[in-house]
Amino acid sequence: MPPHVDRVLKFLADEETASLQRLDEWLRIPSISTDPHYAVDCKRAAQWAADYLKDCGFATEVLPTGTADKHGHPLVMAHCPGSPDYRGPHVLFYGHYDVQPVDPIDLWESPPFEPVIREGKPGGPGRRIVARGAVDDKGQVMTFLEAVRAYRHVTDLVGGGVKFTVMLEGEEESGSTNLEPFVKAHLAKFKDCDVCLISDTGMLGRGQPAITYGVRGLAYTEITLHGPNQDLHSGLWGGRMLNPNTALVQILSQLWDSNRRVTIPGFYEGCPEPSADERAAWSKLGFNSAEALAKIGLPPAADVGEAGYTAMEREWARPTAEINGIYGGYTGAGAKTVIPAHATAKVSFRLVADQQPDKTVSLFFNWLRERTPPGFCWDLKDLHGGFPATLPTDSVHLQAARRALKRAASVDPAMIKSGGSIPVAGMLKSMLGISTIFMGFGLDDDRVHSPNEKFEIDCFRLGARSHALLIDELRALQDR
Ligand code: BES
Ligand code: MN
Ligand code: MN
Repeated sequence: MPPHVDRVLKFLADEETASLQRLDEWLRIPSISTDPHYAVDCKRAAQWAADYLKDCGFATEVLPTGTADKHGHPLVMAHCPGSPDYRGPHVLFYGHYDVQPVDPIDLWESPPFEPVIREGKPGGPGRRIVARGAVDDKGQVMTFLEAVRAYRHVTDLVGGGVKFTVMLEGEEESGSTNLEPFVKAHLAKFKDCDVCLISDTGMLGRGQPAITYGVRGLAYTEITLHGPNQDLHSGLWGGRMLNPNTALVQILSQLWDSNRRVTIPGFYEGCPEPSADERAAWSKLGFNSAEALAKIGLPPAADVGEAGYTAMEREWARPTAEINGIYGGYTGAGAKTVIPAHATAKVSFRLVADQQPDKTVSLFFNWLRERTPPGFCWDLKDLHGGFPATLPTDSVHLQAARRALKRAASVDPAMIKSGGSIPVAGMLKSMLGISTIFMGFGLDDDRVHSPNEKFEIDCFRLGARSHALLIDELRALQDR
């Protein structure tokens, strides 16, 4: 029977409550990848998705990653060959089943792994499902899964007749360190993929669907400055030697100049200015920086960053250095007079265009070494990284995704970029030469990585419909 997309869309609408119930089940599994304590849950979440895909007719495996001494969370791999007459692209759908830790737990209005549906209020967020992983990324992966499930039910076609390979990772939130060796070891599964499809990004706003054509890269480090061989009384020693906390903050404060540009020599290599055309197109998107700041409790005057660029340009096209955490000495309740033996900071860089994570880390570490205080030493760790990815906006695949979104939402999707990072995209580009289409359905107030993470039901619905229509467009590509 030929696929009939209207029947698939109707099926999705009729099934919505049951779809959310299935998502609820998956969200209950606390698959926090960064904490080894949840390794069993990661495995369960992988198995849950594998069972789902198997039910939809995919040939499915749950494969281990990592090495004997470096534990990895399993990857779900699933495949369907497409219907016999399919001559469209072989699409690699990527998503991640792992989630971020839940802390600070006290700020959750309901337990993070007991999803609840909350009703919308005028002027506030819409009807939504609240849980860790609701939008990042189980809920968004689910919009794809529900679409292939609907095709299977309505037309009996696995994957809607499209040739799909599905890869669901369990380590995206902890740096994807085992992903590259995995892809290398299983190259045969990937080598004839034509394009990657990811639903793990956001829209321009409510009712404003978007395709993301670029994400930033990331280089994440942990640096410790060691001074004296013991913690000291700050009265007896204060003034007689350098305090490691003071030394660390003085060094890190040199990372930015008065224009808030990063001062590390060579840092900006491979990072061209955004083109005039791009800047003009972005300024037409109607992004309101004051409104965005108001949502995080800041006045318009807080629109601060690298001189010469708008907030949107700074997020989408400029690299940054950030201190994610900084600690040393006494951080408990009350006062303790102490000079600590060492001080630590977690410093990361967001990268764009052709900047490279490894090179950035080595420039940064050399820059630190040149500033080592007399008698002190560094412990420098490169925790993880990922390449930036900028994608062609004129490919046939991307045009198909634009048409699918337009059919699903009845408005033209915006072409946007994101300041976030999804390491797999840069990796697939460099290893296999394939591009990615980011078709995501998040909103900027979804509280990604924060307490009370949510995914709005309107966005979930749009996601499922868009994936169903993209399948239709991919099938139609062969007739063009
Ligand atoms: N899905 C996010 C990235 C994202 C969110 C991109 C919203 C665009 C819009 C992803 O799961 C994520 O959190 N990535 C991490 C990187 C990772 C290496 C820890 C990030 O960007 O910090
Ligand atoms: Mn994600
Ligand atoms: Mn994330």
